[in-house]
Amino acid sequence: MDTELKEYYKKRAAEFDEVYTRPERQKDIQLLTEFLKHSLAGKNVLEIACGTGFWTQKYSADAASVLATDYNNEVLRVARSKDYLNPNIRFVTDDAYSLNKVTTKANACYAGFWLSHVEKSKRNSFLRTLHEHLEPGSTVIFADNLYVDGNSTPVSRRDSEGNTYQIRTLKDGTRHEILKNFITEEDFHALLSDSTENLHYKKSEYFWYGWYRI
Ligand SMILES: C[S@@+](CC[C@H](N)C(=O)[O-])C[C@H]1O[C@@H](n2cnc3c(N)ncnc32)[C@H](O)[C@@H]1O
Repeated sequence: MDTELKEYYKKRAAEFDEVYTRPERQKDIQLLTEFLKHSLAGKNVLEIACGTGFWTQKYSADAASVLATDYNNEVLRVARSKDYLNPNIRFVTDDAYSLNKVTTKANACYAGFWLSHVEKSKRNSFLRTLHEHLEPGSTVIFADNLYVDGNSTPVSRRDSEGNTYQIRTLKDGTRHEILKNFITEEDFHALLSDSTENLHYKKSEYFWYGWYRI
């Protein structure tokens, strides 16, 4: 399943940012941008699954530094080709489940549109590894899609663990079955409220964002 996800984002790298041109999502993009800029100002940020750097570019100007990671060289190539106002940004190829290349602890984390791709059975170990790479007191922010009827790609199936999937078609006509879980406020609280402080979950029209301190 992870191989399918990797292949899909590798092939989608050149067309990925088109999703952010959808007119109906511009207000949400603006709101999330403001939230990230404000929350991550002055922080040493570890970004997980940064993709083409769309959000890195949005929030990074006021961050102290950014280490942005993704396991796909193709998306990182696009991310590195963009202009950033902050010189303290590094893009590193790394797997979110191991973070082997992250050798210094950050004091903030942002993972956008990533938690929805994590299998339910892998969520806890992913979070444990992530938190081990952050200083105590760090702010962690997740943002992701809400399921919006008539706008989101429909769910094609649900597996025995409760993970849901979508069939996505790329411009070259290839079809990919992608794990995509739409995480509710209840899910987010169930996952994190025992182990973290100041847990918040907020919705805009198309996105949710959740944040807490470790
Ligand atoms: C929906 S995209 C989000 C990209 C970016 N965060 C954004 O919001 O525009 C998901 C990203 O997760 C990356 N990814 C998938 N599995 C990963 C893994 N195990 N480790 C690191 N990155 C992974 C993909 O390469 C892709 O760039």
